[in-house]
Amino acid sequence: MTQAEQASLKEYLSEQVRVVDRALGRWVPAENVAPESIHKAMRYSLFAGGKRVRPILAIAAAHAVCDAPAGVENAAIALELVHTYSLVHDDLPALDNDDLRRGRPTSHKVFGEAMAVLAGDALLTLAFEVLSRLKDVDGERKIQLVEELARASGTVGGMIGGQVNDLEGERKAPTSLVLEAIHRAKTGALLRASVRMGAIYGGATERELAALSDYGEHVGLAFQIVDDILDVEQSSEALGKTAGKDQAQHKITFPAVYGLERSREMAEEERLQSHAALRSFDDRADRLRQIADYIVRRKA
Ligand code: IPE
Ligand code: IPE
Ligand code: MG
Ligand code: MG
Ligand code: MG
Repeated sequence: MTQAEQASLKEYLSEQVRVVDRALGRWVPAENVAPESIHKAMRYSLFAGGKRVRPILAIAAAHAVCDAPAGVENAAIALELVHTYSLVHDDLPALDNDDLRRGRPTSHKVFGEAMAVLAGDALLTLAFEVLSRLKDVDGERKIQLVEELARASGTVGGMIGGQVNDLEGERKAPTSLVLEAIHRAKTGALLRASVRMGAIYGGATERELAALSDYGEHVGLAFQIVDDILDVEQSSEALGKTAGKDQAQHKITFPAVYGLERSREMAEEERLQSHAALRSFDDRADRLRQIADYIVRRKA
């Protein structure tokens, strides 16, 4: 990427973050709506400066297949709502037991465990309310979006299934087979669904959807490989979450199975394959290409 392209991507990403945050602000009940405590907890975790990678992928995918996908940011925030719920629950004492997230004390540290559980539940539920109330797409397409999000968040090859394997893996020997299954499910599925939901929203053809799914799969795996690498390499301050936790908790990660050097190569291979998946697209898919590069080269 040239310096000019890097600057333009940075600007694009911050503009999309603003678009996503505005849409979230509209859909999530204000802090003064009763019961106030739950809305405070939901907003606390949502507006703590996440990268918004999933909604941005959805928006970029919609633009790769459609010139003006009106209202796509509303569908896109459903992904951020589910993702944020998964983080709030991932941090609970019963799961990863983390006290730092997005640069702040975790939800259960501030609001207590019961409210953190409920805030996660509420974010998840709101995601599906948002999809059901979309205005700019027909009913058939809304059902497709609901199915994509539900399956990617679910137990069979989805986020929860992956979280189960991740937890149970703490007591198992790290093997490459288990590792890939965990990562594809706990993180890959929602990233792939982000791309697919954007594509579906934008009215992708079967062929376009297949190519974009392939792109999403590679980007999804790359994302968690890099998350594992950063957990080893970066500081808690840089990450906004506790560094070095994976080794301490005996997690099955890419660095644990392959070492850092090979993990970096594997992330790069996934990046190249994500580009290859977009070969039939013209420059309308350039943002997706750049986001793949950003996902692999990011430092937090
Ligand atoms: C962290 O996700 C958890 C994983 C699924 C790896 P992100 O790195 O997207 O976290 P935020 O949303 O930017 O905080
Ligand atoms: C989290 O994976 C995946 C989720 C579904 C939330 P991690 O446990 O590696 O995420 P971090 O490192 O705590 O963000
Ligand atoms: Mg975890
Ligand atoms: Mg964790
Ligand atoms: Mg991690």
